[in-house]
Amino acid sequence: MLCPKCVKQIPDGSRFCDQCGLRLEATSRPGTVEDEKEMTILSFVNFKGGVGKTATAVNVASDLAKYHEAKTLLVDLDPQSNTSMWVMTAEKLKNRMDNEKTCTVYQLFRDHTLGTHDFDFDEAVVKSPVQNPDGTPLIPNLDLLPATYDMVKLEHEIATSDLPDRFSILEKELQVARREYKYIVIDCAPNIYWATRNALFFSDFYIVPVIPDYLAQSGLQILAQEVRKYLDIVAHHKRNLVKLSGVLMTRVDKRSVDQRLQKGYIENALRELKSQGTVDVRARIFATDIRNSIKVQESIARFLPLCEYDSNHPVAEDFRLFTDELVRAVGQK
Ligand SMILES: Nc1ncnc2c1ncn2[C@@H]1O[C@H](COP(=O)(O)OP(=O)(O)O)[C@@H](O)[C@H]1O
Ligand SMILES: [Mg+2]
Repeated sequence: MLCPKCVKQIPDGSRFCDQCGLRLEATSRPGTVEDEKEMTILSFVNFKGGVGKTATAVNVASDLAKYHEAKTLLVDLDPQSNTSMWVMTAEKLKNRMDNEKTCTVYQLFRDHTLGTHDFDFDEAVVKSPVQNPDGTPLIPNLDLLPATYDMVKLEHEIATSDLPDRFSILEKELQVARREYKYIVIDCAPNIYWATRNALFFSDFYIVPVIPDYLAQSGLQILAQEVRKYLDIVAHHKRNLVKLSGVLMTRVDKRSVDQRLQKGYIENALRELKSQGTVDVRARIFATDIRNSIKVQESIARFLPLCEYDSNHPVAEDFRLFTDELVRAVGQK
């Protein structure tokens, strides 16, 4: 039969199009997709830097892979490449930047802006990058699609490209991931320019990590409104648009009276956004807070997620509990 999306021939019995990765619906091929996993795509988004997007993306992806035994792909969409450095080590990331330039998320986008075909998903994905010093995998279920610093040029390239489908490049290119992964976790840069817009278009849910301070409530309102405006523009291209799953408090000091007060203001801001119809009515402030702990910085310096660096530490427990809560929240799609 022919693929309904790219119109290429699909071999008999196959559940995917080899060309574009489209998964065939049960109706078009009865009896062949019942064991197929449903993939959930999660993006961590905030205008602000330093709020724990990367720390949350890395630790949630690791906990999904380790404790939920879910095949998980972590995608780094930030030119700062902090996620990539954290899980694959600075040395290996530098090697990729110097010697395997086409094996990064930047090339995925560049193929569209330049009209080239140099990105290959299977070559670009780093399999089980969290490893012992001897190279044995510590979290076999966790893979990474890395970013490199040269991605800093991407926004200008997309903005000046005039590509009609520039918001859906990531979605098109990562359809192939449906074969293998239960979750895709995307770490976004601190903006909602084109890379983040691509993440939002592709995602089922976005999560906003915030530090509960005075700036967080207005930041949340502006972000949610900007995301809404963008989604209104692309709404006719997709049936199920991304929903706000919730707001996660990070770097929390449980003794701080002011942070408790600010959390209350953020709750009010979210209530208002829901009543205006700006975000999904089921969006929540997650019950789990991520405490402030030096262990986070220590684990980065060892190139390990917390579940491998110090799994019994309370901040590792926070991420584990948050991951459980998130799985329950997004399970009710
Ligand atoms: N729970 C935490 N406790 C202590 N430090 C943290 C915590 N979360 C993040 N950090 C630190 O804060 C800085 C910014 O965090 P990061 O996750 O990179 O934020 P973002 O991705 O939003 O810019 C990093 O130096 C990181 O080590
Ligand atoms: Mg970051």
